[in-house]
Amino acid sequence: MHLSVIGCGYLGAVHAAAMASIGHDVVGIDVDERKIASLSKGEAPFFEPGLPEILSEGIASGRLRFTTDMAEAAGAQVHFVGVGTPQVKGGYAADLTYVDAAIDALLPYLAEGDIVAGKSTVPVGTAATLAERVAPTGATLVWNPEFLREGWAVQDTIDPDRLVAGVPAGPAGERAAEILRKVYHPSVGKGTPFLVTDYATAELVKVSANAFLATKISFINAMAEIAEVTGADVTQLADAIGYDDRIGRKFLGAGIGFGGGCLPKDIRAFSARAEELGRGESVAFLREIDEINMRRRDRAVDLVVEGLSGSVFKKNITVLGAAFKPHSDDIRDSPALDVAVRLHGLGAWVTITDPAAIENARRIHPQLNYVDDRDEALRGADAVIVVTEWDEYRRQLSPEHAATLTQGRIVIDGRNCLDAAAWREAGWTYYGMGRP
Ligand code: UGA
Repeated sequence: MHLSVIGCGYLGAVHAAAMASIGHDVVGIDVDERKIASLSKGEAPFFEPGLPEILSEGIASGRLRFTTDMAEAAGAQVHFVGVGTPQVKGGYAADLTYVDAAIDALLPYLAEGDIVAGKSTVPVGTAATLAERVAPTGATLVWNPEFLREGWAVQDTIDPDRLVAGVPAGPAGERAAEILRKVYHPSVGKGTPFLVTDYATAELVKVSANAFLATKISFINAMAEIAEVTGADVTQLADAIGYDDRIGRKFLGAGIGFGGGCLPKDIRAFSARAEELGRGESVAFLREIDEINMRRRDRAVDLVVEGLSGSVFKKNITVLGAAFKPHSDDIRDSPALDVAVRLHGLGAWVTITDPAAIENARRIHPQLNYVDDRDEALRGADAVIVVTEWDEYRRQLSPEHAATLTQGRIVIDGRNCLDAAAWREAGWTYYGMGRP
């Protein structure tokens, strides 16, 4: 099938390449010339395992190309819209400027029978408004939210755990759902659930999924706070409750909390939309979720201060990690980087390293000292804090080896990802999050 993908950020670039990899003929369109130039060469503009491979394959096969010219969307049967919906400045709501601009730019190239498939995360009610704007062209709007995780984006796009299509009532909606089924034929064919809903449900599925994940993380972090005053161990608690498959162990990782380009902004936009709908109280708990999450960053900083006997002033602190999670170079709302910046603000000499995110971090926070090599970063540290659980720190860094490099033997495990006993045995004073 001929597809266009409008917006070539995380979502769009991966979607375009993944659709080409399952056999479609795809044009990716974005207003950012640099992004398009790099994608056209088969280079991913961000770190995403597996993406460079499917980009190069797609381009070499002739099924995948990128352009800044919206006119090239003409002729595609399905137009995916995957532009960003950041938080508005000075508020919690989602900024729909890019979605509106993408639809406006696309309208002149739509033909009778085309499908416009919205993938951006939007406030409930957006699709209905956009559908009215698309209607005069004879095209049909569907809402097809995306659930990919950064770091696993290729796999999540090609082999998702479910597909959702929000369609209008009647034959046009049924036809649109059928076409979308064909687009996703490999996964639909092997039994991936394909749920057809109305617009509002599809929009809400996306934000409620992210709200639930955020809630799960803040729940365990709230338990970590209680563990801290009772001497309990939150990781054992998580293991024990996680064996109940109604609860499940996933997303019960206590630590410095969630960040990234999605969970934080999505729960805020959800609250803002619920307020507009007169149902603010229904998701009032999301404010608590947000506050618990932000408190964990304070806690991590406090532990470093405690470890260094009350002050980090003029102390060498090595921060392991900058990305908001491993397998990503994304530093948007990164708790890791926030902790580093806070320590710097308290007068510490902060050295930070990360396998993928240094360039991005340096651009936003040039005041910190960035070192590519992990061992070099550790040299002379008075204290070490792990804030992104990359394997390079979690599995590949032995406490004995680390001890040969640092000045002090204080380690703060901001992700509860280290073997506490092994670090203690190697002579370190170990601090976990919600662990004795
Ligand atoms: C999230 C969702 O997981 C995806 O399903 C969704 O499609 C995506 O947002 C989106 O809306 O686009 P992502 O932002 O890639 O994906 O990251 P997650 O894997 O959800 O992690 C989010 C944050 O939570 C990270 O900072 C991570 O370190 C933190 N986290 C995760 C914890 O603190 N504890 C855990 O147990 C799990």
